[in-house]
Amino acid sequence: MTNENTKYHKPVLLKESLENLNIKPYGHYIDCTLGEGGHSIEILKKLNEKGSLLSIDRDKDAIDFVKKNYKEELEKQKNWTIKKANFKNINEILNKKVDGILMDLGLSSRQLEASKRGFSYLEGSQDLDMRMDEELSAKAIDILNFYDEKTLAKIFKEFGEERNARRIAKLIKENITEIKTVQDLNNIISRAVPAAFADKYKHPSRRVFQALRIAVNDELGNLREGLKNSFEMLKKDGRIVVISFHSLEDRIVKQFFKEKGIKSEIIVPTQDEINRNPRSRSAKMRVLIKKNK
Ligand SMILES: C[S@@+](CC[C@H](N)C(=O)[O-])C[C@H]1O[C@@H](n2cnc3c(N)ncnc32)[C@H](O)[C@@H]1O
Repeated sequence: MTNENTKYHKPVLLKESLENLNIKPYGHYIDCTLGEGGHSIEILKKLNEKGSLLSIDRDKDAIDFVKKNYKEELEKQKNWTIKKANFKNINEILNKKVDGILMDLGLSSRQLEASKRGFSYLEGSQDLDMRMDEELSAKAIDILNFYDEKTLAKIFKEFGEERNARRIAKLIKENITEIKTVQDLNNIISRAVPAAFADKYKHPSRRVFQALRIAVNDELGNLREGLKNSFEMLKKDGRIVVISFHSLEDRIVKQFFKEKGIKSEIIVPTQDEINRNPRSRSAKMRVLIKKNK
């Protein structure tokens, strides 16, 4: 049973993101990916009443969870605003420049483990929804239904780097009427992946699930747009800190920083953090400092 007040998510690279945001007590900050509020609450602690934090998330459940769990802080600290929004539109939400912006990409553990939206290939009985934002019109199952075999294969290859994309897409379309749940899709993927390709340490569905999730939520498009608009929102010497979880995201971040003439170092979790929070294992953090106005 899911307890809606339970915390699932351990913030990743917390100390490193606070340090690299270089938080000034009177500064203005945006947390683009509120999640369960792990990063936001620590940013807030570093601000005085002249400073401010805007935290956004596109998932209404995340917003509701934080509003409930941090009710006292929200009542006490009028300089903390929470809003449901997509970070790609960040420039339309706030009309003043800020000192720092944080993006902690991907899914929260709450979405993965408790949202019942079929994000995880381990939750066999769930429907294939995968929308971070319930206002989106197409669920994962709609993508499987409405896209043709070739388009599906392209999605699996581009967004999941899946080597068996064409075989999987073909078998999905041949059996589409039988696919309703996570387990139905798992079964098809297992049948499509030849034994020679099967990695006994990794679940055969993981790349297809990543690809579908990225497609449903247009995650890469949002990231490109979000970075561009975040940069516009930054004051001189302002910072963008991005934590990504797979190579497709990191490539976009790296490319964007390069376009801005910034060589960014990669910061990764310590072994101690990985031991405490295995989910942090694939995290990569990059930091951009805006040199001009
Ligand atoms: C990894 S979690 C953030 C966890 C958070 N830092 C914490 O410590 O609790 C990522 C969050 O970003 C949200 N998200 C992903 N893409 C988004 C977007 N384009 N706009 C706004 N929120 C987004 C997801 O809904 C999810 O709640």
